[in-house]
Amino acid sequence: MNTLFINGNDEENMKVAAAAVRDGEVVAFPTETVYGLGADALNKDAVKKIFEAKGRPGDNPLIVHIYDKSQIDDIASEITPLAQKLMDAFMPGPITVIVKKSSSIPDEVTAGLDTVGIRMPGSDTCRRFLSLCGCPVAAPSANLSGSPSPTSALHVLNDMDGRIFAIIDGGECEVGLESTVVDATGKEPVILRPGAVTKAMIDEATSSDTGSETLKEGQTPKAPGMKYRHYAPDAEVEIIFLPEDVGEDDILIPETEGEDGKDPLKEMTDEQKKKLFNVASPFILRCREILEKNPASRIGIFAGDETRILFDRTGDHILLSHINFYSYGRSGLVSAASHCLFDGLRHLDIQKPDVILAAGFKGEGLQKAYMNRLEKAAGKSGDLPSRPEVKRHEMPLEMFKDVFTASVLFVGDNNTARSAACEKIFTEMLRSEAPFCREGDTSTGAELYAGSAGLYAMEGDLPDKRMCDALDECFGMDLSHHRGVRACPSEYNDHDLVITMHDEQAFAILNSFPEAEGKVFSISSYAASKGLVIKDEKGRVVSVSIPDPAGENMETYMHTARALKAWLEILFPYILKDLGAERL
Ligand code: TXA
Ligand code: MG
Repeated sequence: MNTLFINGNDEENMKVAAAAVRDGEVVAFPTETVYGLGADALNKDAVKKIFEAKGRPGDNPLIVHIYDKSQIDDIASEITPLAQKLMDAFMPGPITVIVKKSSSIPDEVTAGLDTVGIRMPGSDTCRRFLSLCGCPVAAPSANLSGSPSPTSALHVLNDMDGRIFAIIDGGECEVGLESTVVDATGKEPVILRPGAVTKAMIDEATSSDTGSETLKEGQTPKAPGMKYRHYAPDAEVEIIFLPEDVGEDDILIPETEGEDGKDPLKEMTDEQKKKLFNVASPFILRCREILEKNPASRIGIFAGDETRILFDRTGDHILLSHINFYSYGRSGLVSAASHCLFDGLRHLDIQKPDVILAAGFKGEGLQKAYMNRLEKAAGKSGDLPSRPEVKRHEMPLEMFKDVFTASVLFVGDNNTARSAACEKIFTEMLRSEAPFCREGDTSTGAELYAGSAGLYAMEGDLPDKRMCDALDECFGMDLSHHRGVRACPSEYNDHDLVITMHDEQAFAILNSFPEAEGKVFSISSYAASKGLVIKDEKGRVVSVSIPDPAGENMETYMHTARALKAWLEILFPYILKDLGAERL
């Protein structure tokens, strides 16, 4: 099957997808929680196709999605006063309310249970689609059974391409964790799966004290899905708890970053430094422990921005070369961590780490929903794991010594071949030439790094296979962990120097982002600005040109790789100087 990819604003194709649902096809659609895999809930053959596409066991019931509360009467046979209160308070929104089902809902939807979960999503695109369908839509999360739930259309495409009729792209899901599932068939609400509608919110809306289901051995689960190991990336997942005194509003690093190479950490009080250290050091220590046991380990890290910054500050290039980092934003923000969790697990997992270290949160609100998913990813369930024993070390002060950071960004078209190779080669050069200091000031260390991006890159795109082979063959460098990054103004802002592969790319950047004037060059114009001109035999100036090797043979790729390295070696001292640094 050729899966259609439809933009959520494309009204005509939305109608095509809705008509397909009425015809018994399966269509993936966005909600505010995660993407759903929908079919007409009243058509049992259509519902069976969902189970096939997902590879899901048939004893796990689906929930039914509606766009209007008037649809509830056809789905439910009884709405308890409790269910009514929950629907009034939280629909539309990230909640699923379990009620007694009506006879119109086939057993295929509810896996033979006499109850059904009803959900009215908050997302506009979603409700517009559901209203075009007209029927109630049964849908589980749109991932392959066992992999993390999808929070972007790209995630769905990765799992479902060729398996379903269409995917509707509605951008990233705001919440990022599936809805709260509440059993409302009795007098008191029972939370079967925690979500963004928290226990405290439910207790307040229903004036009760909600119970929550934790599964014991041999007991039939009330939310049958809870017994399966879910959301699991291939790598082992290990949870590292944040200190309890780090709250949502904690800004651990003052926002002076980027201003003229000023060091943000310099402005901090000792109290702040200590807090920051307590957040980041358990990750750093754990990585060192893992590498001590197995020096070949690859480690993925899902944590906050501040932790990433302190990792960079260790200046430990060996450590850094073994980790891939996914930052969800400010460390204390559980909403940001929830929004990014499934994307982070998927993103880190494709780098094939042996282990993923992920930030854990204590607390009863959204923290609970986040930890529920994270623990399932870590293969744990039930009670919170006890906090891992973290060795307390003296705060290594060199992390906070005055450091100056600067970086160069290499920009190409797709960020799969030349620009990616430049990043890799230049990073290796920095590694072998380190340490650096600020130019003319040996007392201030300098952390230098290189990045790359593409004007038309697909986020997360894999590198060009031939370029990987060429770098390996020519210099023994491994490019396979590179992933595509889309060039954008914040990337240009974040770097001190931007070097494109050819002149047109530099023009294109300056056209759309004139503020970057003065720091954007092509390789050729950069060389020329340093007086490095090559002349042909007639004495005419020739511009440096390293053509795109795409579609060419291995020979051409190797030639390209060598040419890039040769030029970067020539430009290295100039780039160093323009970044304001020198070798120590
Ligand atoms: O946010 C969400 O709820 C997403 C979006 C797409 O709406 N859907 C979702 O569906 O997460 P699914 O199938 O991945 O998870 C639904 C959970 C499962 O754990 C299932 O066992 C439970 O709800 N469930 C469904 N019907 C039930 C019922 N009648 N009684 C008890 N649990 C039920
Ligand atoms: Mg699911």
